[in-house]
Amino acid sequence: MKIFSGSSNRPLAEKVAQNLNLKLSPLEIHKFPDGEKRVRVSDVLEDDVVLIQSTGIPVDENYMELFLILDSLKRSGARSITLVAPYFGYQRQDHMFREGEDVSFKVIVQILESFKVDKVITFDLHSIKIPEFFHIPVVHLTALDLFTERPLDKNMVLVSPDMGGIRRIKYLSEKTGLSFATIEKNRDLKTGKVESSKIEGDVKGKNVAIVDDMISTGGTIRAAVELLKKNGAKRINVFATHAVLAGDASSILENLDVEKVYVTDTIDTPQDKKFSKLEILSVADLIAKELK
Ligand code: R5P
Repeated sequence: MKIFSGSSNRPLAEKVAQNLNLKLSPLEIHKFPDGEKRVRVSDVLEDDVVLIQSTGIPVDENYMELFLILDSLKRSGARSITLVAPYFGYQRQDHMFREGEDVSFKVIVQILESFKVDKVITFDLHSIKIPEFFHIPVVHLTALDLFTERPLDKNMVLVSPDMGGIRRIKYLSEKTGLSFATIEKNRDLKTGKVESSKIEGDVKGKNVAIVDDMISTGGTIRAAVELLKKNGAKRINVFATHAVLAGDASSILENLDVEKVYVTDTIDTPQDKKFSKLEILSVADLIAKELK
């Protein structure tokens, strides 16, 4: 098996390779002055290849690089390709919310399948329906277990910041025996502004953990924290698998009345987006275990 890494999340790819007692195989990625890229692999004829590439910010650039690497692996005769995409950009647009819209993630799947990828490994997809878009095996892993490995407060309430996260919160509740609550959230589809209106469940006087699949602008977490505080929640911690951290998300999160924001390294968090409340847990062992 040979492991290749795109440029979006090399630290994670290095950890996975180390765990498997392998070295990352060389991959030439050249960026032209106009932003275009050219990639080159060598020596993969008849090899089983693993490619690790996340598609967080810059999303389109990371996708384009992924497509180019897949093309070069195919042209160079790789026998099989397992794509480890710890985070897939565009996955939230998995259906038409309004008439006339595109279905972005279907477009991504069509392109990926055109390269005859053999298998996909990914984490905490926004919807459990997404694997059905593919005609190849998709291993859908979860990083939620990393959260349960932290010392847990026995009286803590797990909170989903929107109805879409109910299955995640139920999964964690079954694993930990903790009770849960859910928030009703509305997002203005034109402005992206989030409003959290109502909590189903009891949080008064309780410590809570908000659990989500991803933090993008931080708007969902901010609205949830404000509503929880208004309803008497005490200490608040946040756990989200994917740290997309768009725009001012880091400073929004840093200034919230929360103790810690746990995320994972499915997306590499650049130094300038790190903040003191942020703790990054690694999914490298989970990927390595799946590849073994
Ligand atoms: C939405 O349904 C997702 O589960 C997340 O809650 C959302 O994508 C987070 O985005 P933002 O941080 O921009 O509110």
